[in-house]
Amino acid sequence: MEGLRRGIGWPTVAVVLTCAALVMIPEVSSTRFIVGGNMGWTTNFNYTVWAQGKHFYNGDWLFFVYDRNQMNVLEVNSTDYDACNSDHPVHNWTTGAGRDVVPLNVTRDYYFISGKGFCYGGMKVAVHVENPPPPPVAAPVKSGSTRFTFRAQIVVPAAFAIAALWDSFLQLAV
Ligand SMILES: *[C@@H]1O[C@H](CO)[C@@H](O)[C@H](O)[C@H]1NC(C)=O
Ligand SMILES: *[C@@H]1O[C@H](CO)[C@@H](O)[C@H](O)[C@H]1NC(C)=O
Ligand SMILES: *[C@@H]1O[C@H](CO)[C@@H](O)[C@H](O)[C@H]1NC(C)=O
Ligand SMILES: *[C@@H]1O[C@H](CO)[C@@H](O)[C@H](O)[C@H]1NC(C)=O
Repeated sequence: MEGLRRGIGWPTVAVVLTCAALVMIPEVSSTRFIVGGNMGWTTNFNYTVWAQGKHFYNGDWLFFVYDRNQMNVLEVNSTDYDACNSDHPVHNWTTGAGRDVVPLNVTRDYYFISGKGFCYGGMKVAVHVENPPPPPVAAPVKSGSTRFTFRAQIVVPAAFAIAALWDSFLQLAV
């Protein structure tokens, strides 16, 4: 019985948390982009292609994941981006952990390169940051379907629990 009761308890907690999150998210719908996706920040990857077709909005973040012993993350101006010049970065985002988060909090073009010669091999990315669009109208429909899924997850275990309770009640009565 204890196990069953816990089985009902956790989905309920999940639903409460999900609903709370759904209420809060539309206010700040910012995206954290992992630069290079699954590949991360590395060599032999075309970051121009990666950035193509993506929209970067004011308030989003770039997340650079890389080998901290080799690469780094330097923000440069367009001239130094084109020339792969890491001598005078506008901002050094390297923290030393190999996981650097850059807030895109100004609507402008950002240019990042890796120093230590890696830029010449293509470790450079430029992103154009725009103002966020108005909130999406489709959001309520989506959250409704999510909530429906979660409700289905409660109903099934609850039905089993009631059946089990009923079973043990019958056994006691006999
Ligand atoms: C970038 O910085 C370099 C060195 O500080 C400077 O010579 C160059 O004019 C700058 N380029 C732009 C587009 O600001
Ligand atoms: C960037 O900052 C890191 C961490 O503080 C430091 O180790 C590194 O030397 C700096 N790199 C440049 C090019 O300034
Ligand atoms: C953007 O973020 C940087 C780094 O956290 C911060 O230093 C800067 O003040 C912020 N700029 C604005 C306009 O919020
Ligand atoms: C990345 O791909 C673009 C478009 O195919 C190409 O123009 C660019 O030269 C490539 N960049 C690198 C560093 O290979």
